[in-house]
Amino acid sequence: MEIVITPDADAASEVVAGVIVGVLDTRPAPVLGLATGSSPLAAYRRLIAAHVRGDLSFAHASAVLLDEYVGLTPGHPEAYRAFISRELVDHIDLPPERLFGPDVHADDLAEACRRYDQLIADLGGVDVQLLGIGSDGHVGFNEPGSSLASRTRIKTLTRATRADNARFFEDHEQEVPRHVVTQGLGTILEARHLVLVACGAGKAAPIAHAVEGPLTAMCPASILQLHPHATVVVDEPAAAELKLADYYREAFENKPRWQQL
Ligand code: F6R
Repeated sequence: MEIVITPDADAASEVVAGVIVGVLDTRPAPVLGLATGSSPLAAYRRLIAAHVRGDLSFAHASAVLLDEYVGLTPGHPEAYRAFISRELVDHIDLPPERLFGPDVHADDLAEACRRYDQLIADLGGVDVQLLGIGSDGHVGFNEPGSSLASRTRIKTLTRATRADNARFFEDHEQEVPRHVVTQGLGTILEARHLVLVACGAGKAAPIAHAVEGPLTAMCPASILQLHPHATVVVDEPAAAELKLADYYREAFENKPRWQQL
């Protein structure tokens, strides 16, 4: 796992956007795994800006959602498909029919989850999966206690996550859906490159647990320790509780030129 500590959130977004650009430039049919929430937004804005300048095309790419709420009306503005369309896909040339998400309106949700894992496999797997981290250490919506081998499935959000996400629902916690479909931890681990971005002091404790704590279902983000190609991009406040922060900085500053992120 590589830890990249940037001076601020803006620099973190530059690193994250750079990884996506690298995948778009080098893969003939790249598959991007997209997270929602606040953490990746600045990187999405950079990607949109590069596209508007004419420097970047997504025409040959596909994108898959990391997770989705269950129980919102189709087209609800806070549904994650709507969120990703609004924050990224509507502003770039990714063909809209190549944005995929789990069918959370299916009668048979368990079957829809199986179909979603199959769809990801049929696309050839995810080239780069963007991740944020919850204050309770979740990735995707795999809450503490999630099986480390889990597949895409329905999960129940914790009180803490619903409280955290109330800001997207005009601070009405009771309007945050209780249920979600999320790629499982086993599904996420199959992506070729995991890039987790976290900024701000509120992320310092979960980042320290995920990066330097034990591999445990109590901190689902600790699965990054199992992945052969995982990059954690944090600003200084989010890095504040990392014991080996100086080592991570030194390693990054002295990275051989041939070695990419
Ligand atoms: C979003 C997701 C969540 C968020 C996490 C952090 O698709 O899967 O795991 O990444 O809750 O959210 P923010 O970035 O809003 O702090």
